[in-house]
Amino acid sequence: MVELDRDVAAVWRTILNGKGSRLAERILGFDLTIDNVKRILSSNNSILEDRAFAALLRNRVQHGGIMAPGASLMKKGENGNGISSRWYADTLAKRIKAITGIKKRIEFRNEDGLKTIKEFASQKDSVFFVDPPYTIAGKRLYRHSEIDHESLLKVMSMVKGDFLITYDNTTEVKEWAEKYGFEYETVAMKSRQNSNKSELLIGRDLDWARH
Ligand SMILES: C[S@@+](CC[C@H](N)C(=O)[O-])C[C@H]1O[C@@H](n2cnc3c(N)ncnc32)[C@H](O)[C@@H]1O
Repeated sequence: MVELDRDVAAVWRTILNGKGSRLAERILGFDLTIDNVKRILSSNNSILEDRAFAALLRNRVQHGGIMAPGASLMKKGENGNGISSRWYADTLAKRIKAITGIKKRIEFRNEDGLKTIKEFASQKDSVFFVDPPYTIAGKRLYRHSEIDHESLLKVMSMVKGDFLITYDNTTEVKEWAEKYGFEYETVAMKSRQNSNKSELLIGRDLDWARH
């Protein structure tokens, strides 16, 4: 697994370093008040576990799960519950425990995904799931959204193994997919407002997705 954002990386590193239960306990014991949230999000969190906790908190209390620093906190949230409306402490703790259970099978890298893809490109038995920032909404949502999307698709056209890419459903992305001879399919997805939206699956052979 590869992720460039150091805060998201802190979450994975903390869990994979064996500190998942401590992180889960901290989540379960957190008193979610505006003051506590502001204190945690504004501190510099130089310790990995603190950074991990702050990253999860930010994702849950900022508008739309936006991970880019500085986004505003939810005021009304879902059902008017404000910042607590998406703070599902039990669910987060369960997920962390589930990841802990399979942590030996995960290798995490905090680096540029393109570099990793190139490293494994010539191996037939390497498969890739690529979930890049959307071409349009990416800038608003993530700290790192400056991807050269066409280069990414070009690199994917050179990998020997199989792959699946998810993208926003735009004409531009479909044109790139066609240019490199890939197939694409539209799938339904839930957006943050739970309205019905669609995104693209891109691959070499998407027959499996059509049945
Ligand atoms: C659509 S999100 C992926 C979310 C992830 N699949 C998940 O389920 O949590 C896109 C992610 O790509 C990351 N990113 C942006 N540029 C990157 C790069 N060059 N290499 C690796 N990750 C990158 C962003 O930080 C962001 O977290």
